[in-house]
Amino acid sequence: MLNSLWYAVEFSNAISTSPKLLKILGRELVLYRTGDGQIQAMDNACIHRGAALAKGSIEGDCIVCPYHGWQYQQNGDCVNIPSQSPATSIAKQAKMTTYPVREKYGWIWLFLGGGEPGELISISNFPQLESGGFRSIQGKFYWNANYERVLENGLDFAHAPFVHAGAFGNPNLPEIEDLVIENYPEGASATVYLAATPPQGLWKLLVRGERKPIKTRTGFFLPNLTFLEVYLPFGQLTIWTAHVPINANTTVSKWINFRSFFTGKWADLDAYNRTIKIFEQDKPIVESQRPQIIPTDLNGEIYVAADALQLQYRKLRQHILM
Ligand code: FES
Ligand SMILES: [Fe+2]
Repeated sequence: MLNSLWYAVEFSNAISTSPKLLKILGRELVLYRTGDGQIQAMDNACIHRGAALAKGSIEGDCIVCPYHGWQYQQNGDCVNIPSQSPATSIAKQAKMTTYPVREKYGWIWLFLGGGEPGELISISNFPQLESGGFRSIQGKFYWNANYERVLENGLDFAHAPFVHAGAFGNPNLPEIEDLVIENYPEGASATVYLAATPPQGLWKLLVRGERKPIKTRTGFFLPNLTFLEVYLPFGQLTIWTAHVPINANTTVSKWINFRSFFTGKWADLDAYNRTIKIFEQDKPIVESQRPQIIPTDLNGEIYVAADALQLQYRKLRQHILM
């Protein structure tokens, strides 16, 4: 795990005053919104007898355990034990571990330890994340793979003609021209023109004549966010994904798909199915990769020019691990 970084872990709109279980890095946490809209995160197992707080409820600023009704306030302190008289003091040890949380760019971000939390990363020049004008849908996809293998798959151009032939990437034109890399303090992106394939399904309605290569940009922000921007002849498609490490070998990718065309609800299912289809094409390949955890040594695998973005990811990760 990359300590001392903020992980994007959940969609903002998925957190309400109904507590929600979050599995991350082998642990169980509970996320919820208090009455005033603040997001909270704490361990899920109640300090009393270990019942799941995610099955509890919110009262004002407190989360209430479903087993014996103990109430925990925002800093994790237990402030009410219904079985004892209010005159009886509450032991200091009756305290839940809480975690720093932020809400930005449509995501909930968690800081899981490893020193003091620094600033949340700043993502600029991505209008989809901050303003309207795009139709968006969201979904989840589960993998039996380590999140870094999943993340790197999102940065990999050269597999498109092999794994996604017919969706994007042309199997007859697998050569990847030089990537144009852009570096950010906590990430990088690469732009390339990918050979087009004939449009399928609904998209046929939007395409006339010969198809030119498709400008495609993909990138990452540490530790677990990737994006893919596709400049189609009829509009822009962008997918932002938080790859949440459930444990070393299981990942859930929580994705938001933004599109500037077909902005009616009627096309949502088509957009959803296209996104899932891409993940499903990737799944058997990514789950087959060994070792499951990418080598920490930069010489551990071989790189060619088309792998420049993955290499940049590994370099930044290496820098943090050192
Ligand atoms: S287990 Fe939570 S109050 Fe007893
Ligand atoms: Fe893929």
